[in-house]
Amino acid sequence: MSDDAFGTLVASADPPLIVVTTSAEGEQAGCLIGFHAQSSISPQHYCVWLSKANHTYRVSLRAAHFAVHFLTTQDLDLAERFGTVSGEETDKFAGLDVDVDEHGVPLLRAAPNRMRLERIAVLDDGSDHVCLTTRVVSAETAGDFVPLRVSAATHLDPGHDSEERAIDPGS
Ligand SMILES: Cc1cc2nc3c(=O)[nH]c(=O)nc-3n(C[C@H](O)[C@H](O)[C@H](O)COP(=O)(O)O)c2cc1C
Repeated sequence: MSDDAFGTLVASADPPLIVVTTSAEGEQAGCLIGFHAQSSISPQHYCVWLSKANHTYRVSLRAAHFAVHFLTTQDLDLAERFGTVSGEETDKFAGLDVDVDEHGVPLLRAAPNRMRLERIAVLDDGSDHVCLTTRVVSAETAGDFVPLRVSAATHLDPGHDSEERAIDPGS
Protein backbone atom coordinates (compact mmCIF):
# COMPACT_ATOMS: atom_id res chain seq x y z
CA MET A 1 0.00 0.00 0.00
CA SER A 2 1.29 3.45 -0.87
CA ASP A 3 1.66 5.77 2.12
CA ASP A 4 0.99 8.69 -0.22
CA ALA A 5 -2.36 7.26 -1.35
CA PHE A 6 -3.37 6.45 2.22
CA GLY A 7 -2.47 9.98 3.31
CA THR A 8 -4.31 11.55 0.38
CA LEU A 9 -7.46 9.54 1.01
CA VAL A 10 -7.64 10.16 4.76
CA ALA A 11 -6.79 13.86 4.31
CA SER A 12 -9.80 14.15 1.98
CA ALA A 13 -12.06 13.36 4.96
CA ASP A 14 -10.70 16.44 6.83
CA PRO A 15 -12.49 15.69 10.11
CA PRO A 16 -13.50 18.32 12.65
CA LEU A 17 -11.23 18.65 15.66
CA ILE A 18 -12.54 17.96 19.13
CA VAL A 19 -11.12 18.13 22.62
CA VAL A 20 -11.81 15.04 24.72
CA THR A 21 -11.64 15.45 28.49
CA THR A 22 -11.87 12.97 31.31
CA SER A 23 -10.99 12.39 34.93
CA ALA A 24 -9.98 9.45 37.11
CA GLU A 25 -9.33 9.44 40.85
CA GLY A 26 -9.15 13.24 40.87
CA GLU A 27 -6.72 13.45 37.94
CA GLN A 28 -7.97 15.49 34.97
CA ALA A 29 -6.83 14.93 31.40
CA GLY A 30 -7.66 16.06 27.91
CA CYS A 31 -6.25 16.20 24.42
CA LEU A 32 -7.01 17.28 20.87
CA ILE A 33 -8.51 14.52 18.70
CA GLY A 34 -8.96 14.12 14.97
CA PHE A 35 -9.92 10.44 15.11
CA HIS A 36 -13.56 10.23 16.23
CA ALA A 37 -16.92 9.18 14.77
CA GLN A 38 -20.56 8.36 15.43
CA SER A 39 -20.83 4.58 15.53
CA SER A 40 -24.55 3.92 16.11
CA ILE A 41 -27.82 5.81 15.53
CA SER A 42 -30.07 4.08 18.04
CA PRO A 43 -28.72 3.72 20.62
CA GLN A 44 -26.52 6.77 20.10
CA HIS A 45 -22.91 5.64 20.29
CA TYR A 46 -19.69 7.56 19.66
CA CYS A 47 -16.09 6.39 19.28
CA VAL A 48 -12.85 8.23 19.94
CA TRP A 49 -9.38 6.90 19.22
CA LEU A 50 -6.68 7.73 21.75
CA SER A 51 -2.97 7.49 21.10
CA LYS A 52 -1.17 5.13 23.46
CA ALA A 53 1.50 7.83 23.74
CA ASN A 54 -0.84 10.27 25.47
CA HIS A 55 -1.37 11.14 29.10
CA THR A 56 -5.10 11.28 28.29
CA TYR A 57 -4.96 7.62 27.19
CA ARG A 58 -3.38 6.55 30.46
CA VAL A 59 -5.96 8.42 32.54
CA SER A 60 -8.77 7.09 30.31
CA LEU A 61 -7.93 3.50 31.23
CA ARG A 62 -9.16 4.30 34.75
CA ALA A 63 -12.07 6.51 33.65
CA ALA A 64 -15.68 5.76 32.74
CA HIS A 65 -16.90 9.21 31.74
CA PHE A 66 -15.75 11.61 29.04
CA ALA A 67 -16.73 14.86 27.33
CA VAL A 68 -16.04 15.72 23.70
CA HIS A 69 -15.99 19.40 22.79
CA PHE A 70 -16.43 20.29 19.11
CA LEU A 71 -14.13 23.18 18.24
CA THR A 72 -15.04 26.10 15.98
CA THR A 73 -12.82 28.15 13.68
CA GLN A 74 -12.44 30.57 16.64
CA ASP A 75 -10.86 27.87 18.82
CA LEU A 76 -7.37 27.46 17.40
CA ASP A 77 -5.97 28.51 20.80
CA LEU A 78 -7.79 25.60 22.47
CA ALA A 79 -6.53 23.23 19.78
CA GLU A 80 -2.98 24.40 20.43
CA ARG A 81 -3.32 24.14 24.20
CA PHE A 82 -4.77 20.60 24.14
CA GLY A 83 -2.86 19.28 21.14
CA THR A 84 0.72 20.49 21.50
CA VAL A 85 1.65 19.93 25.14
CA SER A 86 1.15 16.97 27.45
CA GLY A 87 -0.78 16.86 30.71
CA GLU A 88 2.25 15.13 32.18
CA GLU A 89 4.21 18.36 32.23
CA THR A 90 1.53 21.04 32.36
CA ASP A 91 -1.95 21.69 33.74
CA LYS A 92 -3.86 22.30 30.51
CA PHE A 93 -6.94 23.46 32.41
CA ALA A 94 -5.14 26.24 34.34
CA GLY A 95 -6.55 29.65 33.51
CA LEU A 96 -9.57 28.27 31.61
CA ASP A 97 -13.19 28.56 32.75
CA VAL A 98 -14.01 24.95 33.54
CA ASP A 99 -17.11 23.36 35.03
CA VAL A 100 -16.84 19.89 36.51
CA ASP A 101 -19.67 17.40 36.04
CA GLU A 102 -20.88 14.90 38.65
CA HIS A 103 -18.19 12.43 37.54
CA GLY A 104 -15.36 14.95 37.81
CA VAL A 105 -15.11 15.41 34.03
CA PRO A 106 -13.91 18.92 33.05
CA LEU A 107 -16.33 20.82 30.76
CA LEU A 108 -14.77 23.73 28.88
CA ARG A 109 -17.06 26.77 29.00
CA ALA A 110 -15.37 28.18 25.90
CA ALA A 111 -16.50 25.11 23.92
CA PRO A 112 -20.25 24.70 24.51
CA ASN A 113 -20.89 22.37 21.53
CA ARG A 114 -20.31 19.05 23.22
CA MET A 115 -21.38 15.56 24.20
CA ARG A 116 -20.96 13.71 27.45
CA LEU A 117 -20.05 10.07 26.99
CA GLU A 118 -19.97 6.92 29.06
CA ARG A 119 -17.48 4.24 28.20
CA ILE A 120 -18.72 0.88 26.91
CA ALA A 121 -15.45 -0.77 25.88
CA VAL A 122 -11.84 -0.18 24.89
CA LEU A 123 -10.55 -1.93 21.79
CA ASP A 124 -6.79 -2.40 21.48
CA ASP A 125 -6.11 -3.89 18.04
CA GLY A 126 -2.35 -3.70 18.49
CA SER A 127 -1.98 -0.38 16.66
CA ASP A 128 -0.78 2.94 18.05
CA HIS A 129 -4.29 4.07 19.08
CA VAL A 130 -7.05 2.42 21.11
CA CYS A 131 -10.74 2.82 20.31
CA LEU A 132 -13.02 3.92 23.11
CA THR A 133 -16.60 2.98 22.32
CA THR A 134 -19.11 5.00 24.30
CA ARG A 135 -22.80 5.69 24.75
CA VAL A 136 -23.93 9.29 24.42
CA VAL A 137 -25.28 10.49 27.76
CA SER A 138 -26.15 14.01 26.58
CA ALA A 139 -25.48 16.39 23.71
CA GLU A 140 -25.77 20.16 23.60
CA THR A 141 -24.99 22.93 21.13
CA ALA A 142 -24.91 26.71 21.30
CA GLY A 143 -26.32 26.91 17.75
CA ASP A 144 -24.81 26.65 14.30
CA PHE A 145 -21.04 26.73 14.12
CA VAL A 146 -18.24 26.31 11.62
CA PRO A 147 -16.02 23.44 12.75
CA LEU A 148 -12.27 23.75 13.08
CA ARG A 149 -10.91 21.02 10.82
CA VAL A 150 -7.64 19.11 10.70
CA SER A 151 -6.63 21.02 7.55
CA ALA A 152 -6.58 24.24 9.61
CA ALA A 153 -4.26 22.73 12.22
CA THR A 154 -1.55 21.02 10.20
CA HIS A 155 1.02 23.45 11.64
CA LEU A 156 0.42 22.14 15.17
CA ASP A 157 3.09 19.80 16.49
CA PRO A 158 1.47 17.08 18.69
CA GLY A 159 2.60 16.95 22.32
CA HIS A 160 3.45 13.28 21.82
CA ASP A 161 4.50 11.39 18.69
CA SER A 162 2.26 8.36 18.19
CA GLU A 163 5.15 5.90 18.60
CA GLU A 164 6.13 7.21 22.06
CA ARG A 165 5.35 5.05 25.11
CA ALA A 166 5.49 6.00 28.79
CA ILE A 167 7.11 2.64 29.54
CA ASP A 168 9.49 0.87 27.19
CA PRO A 169 8.58 -2.84 27.46
CA GLY A 170 12.05 -3.72 26.14
CA SER A 171 13.96 -1.99 28.93
C1 LIG B 1 -4.28 18.00 14.45
C2 LIG B 1 -4.06 17.00 15.57
C3 LIG B 1 -4.86 15.87 15.65
C4 LIG B 1 -4.67 14.94 16.68
N1 LIG B 1 -5.47 13.81 16.77
C5 LIG B 1 -5.29 12.96 17.80
C6 LIG B 1 -6.15 11.82 17.93
O1 LIG B 1 -7.05 11.57 17.13
N2 LIG B 1 -5.97 11.01 19.01
C7 LIG B 1 -5.00 11.25 19.94
O2 LIG B 1 -4.91 10.48 20.92
N3 LIG B 1 -4.15 12.29 19.83
C8 LIG B 1 -4.29 13.15 18.79
N4 LIG B 1 -3.46 14.23 18.66
C9 LIG B 1 -2.30 14.35 19.57
C10 LIG B 1 -2.61 14.89 20.95
O3 LIG B 1 -3.63 15.86 20.97
C11 LIG B 1 -1.32 15.50 21.55
O4 LIG B 1 -0.23 14.59 21.48
C12 LIG B 1 -1.50 15.99 22.97
O5 LIG B 1 -0.46 16.88 23.28
C13 LIG B 1 -1.53 14.85 23.99
O6 LIG B 1 -1.76 15.39 25.25
P1 LIG B 1 -1.77 14.48 26.56
O7 LIG B 1 -0.42 13.81 26.65
O8 LIG B 1 -2.00 15.46 27.69
O9 LIG B 1 -2.90 13.51 26.44
C14 LIG B 1 -3.65 15.16 17.65
C15 LIG B 1 -2.85 16.33 17.58
C16 LIG B 1 -3.04 17.23 16.55
C17 LIG B 1 -2.17 18.47 16.50
